[in-house]
Amino acid sequence: MAGGHRLLLENAQQVVMVCARGERFLARDALHSLAVLEGASLVVGTDGFIKAIGRADAIQTLFSEETFEERIDCSGKCILPGLVDAHTHPVWAGERVHEFAMKLAGATYMEIHQAGGGINFTVEHTRQASEEELFCSFQQRLQCMMRAGTTLVECKSGYGLNLETELKMLRVIERARRQGPIGISATYCGAHSVPKGKTATEAADEIINNHLPKLKELGSRGEIHVDNIDVFCEKGVFDLNSTRRILQSGKDLGLQINFHGDELHPMKAAELGAELGAQAISHLEEVSDEGIAAMATARSSAVLLPTTAYMLRLKQPRARKMLDEGVIVALGSDFNPNAYCLSMPMVMHLACVNMRMSMPEALAAATINAAYALGKSHTHGSLEVGKQGDLIIINSSRWEHLIYQFGGHHELIEYVIAKGKVIYKK
Ligand code: NIG
Ligand code: FE
Repeated sequence: MAGGHRLLLENAQQVVMVCARGERFLARDALHSLAVLEGASLVVGTDGFIKAIGRADAIQTLFSEETFEERIDCSGKCILPGLVDAHTHPVWAGERVHEFAMKLAGATYMEIHQAGGGINFTVEHTRQASEEELFCSFQQRLQCMMRAGTTLVECKSGYGLNLETELKMLRVIERARRQGPIGISATYCGAHSVPKGKTATEAADEIINNHLPKLKELGSRGEIHVDNIDVFCEKGVFDLNSTRRILQSGKDLGLQINFHGDELHPMKAAELGAELGAQAISHLEEVSDEGIAAMATARSSAVLLPTTAYMLRLKQPRARKMLDEGVIVALGSDFNPNAYCLSMPMVMHLACVNMRMSMPEALAAATINAAYALGKSHTHGSLEVGKQGDLIIINSSRWEHLIYQFGGHHELIEYVIAKGKVIYKK
């Protein structure tokens, strides 16, 4: 049995630390250039945490007497943090490729939703699906995300709406979380849509009086671990008042507030989130100037979802304005049956081209700031001593190729590593 350390990554052309001074997020000027070491090596210990990063010759001298379970020659290659996907809906049954065709022919998201399609269609199929079937398709999706470089992902429930199916989804998420290898932040999204035959107020009452107490009970028995609470705050879905009641009740249980706001209509969701101390608010295509200012002050991160605006041909969220005002900007794939994208490199590319973010801004948004959106930036999102050894190795001498080569991540990503263990090798 080899002792010493778990992994030595030797002599990389670039080690992209992203940040190097324990920052919990990057905003404003800190995004102009990221912390990058040239000609560097990195050591992960047997506990899965990073022990050393530095110039290759210095690491070689320091660790010359030590042993490693695995060593990888990274000459000519780049090491980056594992990507963090801050917003996904990955547990569901029922493909919606037919709706893609309808949208291409001109139907809007809300037209399909109100005609009983969209989320409602997925809810019907997910209620009928067995737990095993949901788990299998979820695992395959996680595999695809992982091969595209994701090592930490936020996963929502929300295609059950009733307690029984919401719990089925959360059990599926819990099983994957325990099994690994990629990290999961679990979100209860029972307020994803108003179930048929109920008003938003009635649905909110049901969630507050029945769903949340059950989650608390299962949490205290250690059966299901939920990190975040989510609501789809939107005209014709959950109004501001119902959203407030649900989010506050979730917060009272100790959940982090992380919700959908200001997507299709201006709702003052950003203002509400900032007031409630939301860790993250997603979408924000229709956010107001006041909402942006409030989020910057409250340090509520903005999780921008370039695939949604692209897919639905919506106006883009005002990423530049948010960045200029000091909002903590993160990215997510929003993987769901409406926006079928599992790849954070493609998400970063879209963020750069369509939302006018720079490549350093996009990478920070998909690493340290996405980790912040999940309340995990003390352990994830950058390559620093003491952080979890989650990283990717790309076959290129400059890290920007991961964003530049649109759809090229399958060729570029040679290794994906979680807690210092190789979980994917091309
Ligand atoms: O983030 N906007 C609400 N929820 C999802 C879409 C879910 C669905 O259409 O199934 C989103 O885009
Ligand atoms: Fe979403």
